[in-house]
Order: sequence, then structure tokens, then C-alpha cells
Amino acid sequence: MIAYEGTLFRPPSEANSLILQATIGCSYNQCTFCAMYRDKRFRVRPMAELLAEIEWASQNLGPVHKVFLADGDALVAKSRFLGELCDALRATFPDLRRISCYASPQALAIRSVDEMSLLREKGLTQYYLGIESGHDQVLLDLDKGVDAEEMIRVANKAHDAGVALSTMILLGAGGRELSQKHAVESARVVNAIQPKFLSTLVMTPVEGTPLGDQEARGEVDELNPVELAAELRELIGGLECEATIFRSNHASNTLTLAGVLPKDKRELLRVLDETLAHPSRARFVPRWQRGL
Ligand SMILES: C[S@@+](CC[C@H](N)C(=O)[O-])C[C@H]1O[C@@H](n2cnc3c(N)ncnc32)[C@H](O)[C@@H]1O
Ligand code: SF4
Repeated sequence: MIAYEGTLFRPPSEANSLILQATIGCSYNQCTFCAMYRDKRFRVRPMAELLAEIEWASQNLGPVHKVFLADGDALVAKSRFLGELCDALRATFPDLRRISCYASPQALAIRSVDEMSLLREKGLTQYYLGIESGHDQVLLDLDKGVDAEEMIRVANKAHDAGVALSTMILLGAGGRELSQKHAVESARVVNAIQPKFLSTLVMTPVEGTPLGDQEARGEVDELNPVELAAELRELIGGLECEATIFRSNHASNTLTLAGVLPKDKRELLRVLDETLAHPSRARFVPRWQRGL
């Protein structure tokens, strides 16, 4: 059996993947907005437990095409451990096409390009990375632990290793005051990284986090749906992506958009301009339907 510990989070695109908790929690666990692993103490799972779960999955589930390694920054585990896990997955599931995991900037900083290349050869071919913002003050306020230049540096280590990146930007993270600069700088950082996938999420204050505490004190300057659309317009307008799949389909978003860049950039901007010109006709997702 697979006994998951605590609440499990996975990217929307891993909905059909086998999820294995290679690690529990997040080794950094400090970002002001993130409540996901606050109740967990970080640890790497014993290999024997994981091998038993892989064996169980091979006996009880249908063909496995994709595996997602949870929790919050599984890439931080030693590369020998991750390599052994990837070997076991490939040996057990003949239909396996991809192994992926979350990779925090801290995990990317400690993994060498050679380690990531070796793991890529063993099947770990995609990381999810929360860029969140390209603006240094916003990154500092979020306590992300890196500035924009460091974010670019570590993300490009993954590219040098041939690993695909799926990245996230947090709309609204700079409040009203920094909204425009947050969008412009985030586009600059995304352009410097050229991720294969780019998603936006709307920053959502959650109880039990520093951001949630700030909200309770009335200190969070939350953007309304029109302001979020203007910020997204500024972001997309600044993107110079060579081949990036863009989505704002995460449940936190107020507008659901998708396209391939650069091909669909003009159409995405047209939809956003239309939204901004006629907000009353726009199909904003109501607050009660949104979530994390
Ligand atoms: C489980 S985290 C893993 C990311 C990875 N550890 C990293 O730091 O790159 C996935 C993403 O969920 C998003 N997220 C987490 N808490 C959020 C919140 N309160 N509001 C909006 N998005 C949130 C952030 O974009 C974050 O990068
Ligand atoms: S966003 Fe990522 S690095 Fe930051 S606390 Fe959440 S899981 Fe950890």
C-alpha cells in the first residue's frame, strides 16, 4: 500500500501520475505565502519503504506512465538516493515516460549540473520551480531565499543538465505598489530562463503563514480581478519566449488562459485588452470557485 503522510500537493499536470513521497515536507519551508508543508518536519524517506510502495503499485495499479516525486523539494535529497529511486522506477514500470519533482532554488543550488544530468538520464526529466517573481524586493518580501539573478543562475543549471523546467509566477505578489514592476521584472527573468512551461498563480493569503498573519492585520494589498488582469497583461506583453507553453489554469487564477508562446502571444494580449476594456463582460472566476 502507499501510505501518504499529511496533505499531498502536486502540480495540475501531474493529476494522472503515480505520486511517491520521496521526501516529507520542504527543507526550506520559509516562503511567507506557503502553508503547504508548515506542519511537517523535513526528512528523506527510507529507501526500503519507497521500494515496497513501488512494488505495491506494480501489483495493484495499471500501467504507470508518469511518476511525481513529492513533497515540496524532493530534488534536495542526495543524488545517489534519487538515482536509486529512478532506477527502481524504470526497472519496475516498462511504460514509464517521465519522472518529475518540485525543485526549490535552494535544491537547485546544491545539485551539480553533472548530478542533474545523470538523474535526467535515469528518467528525472522535469522539475517544477516557483520563480514567483523577478523583482528583488518582492522576492525578499516573500522570503524566497534568492534574488532574481540567483534564480536565473540556478534555473539555468537545470537547463545545462538538459532538464525541462515548469515554472510558476505569483500574480499579485507585489501588491498594488509594485504590481507593474513585479510583472516587468518577472517577464525579464522568465526570458532569461526560457522555461518549457510557465504558469501563473494568484498569491492567496493562507492562515498559519506570515502572509496570512499580515492579511489578518489588514496589511496585504490584494489586487482585484481587473488589476490582476492588468498585471498579467504586463507580464505577457514583456515575454520573449522562444517555445513556452503558458497556462493560467491553476485553481487560484481569476482568468483561465492558455497558449503557446510566441505563437499565441498576440491573441493572449487581445483577450486581456478586451477584458481590461470591458471588465463587466469578462468571465472572471468567482472567489468561491477559486482555491489552491
Ligand atoms: C508546493 S510549492 C513547490 C515549489 C518549490 N518548492 C519551489 O519553491 O520552487 C508550489 C507552488 O505553489 C504556489 N503556492 C504555494 N502557496 C501559495 C499561495 N498561498 N498562493 C498562491 N500560490 C501558492 C507557489 O507558486 C509555489 O511555488
Ligand atoms: S514555495 Fe517551495 S520552497 Fe517555499 S516553502 Fe513552499 S515548498 Fe518550500
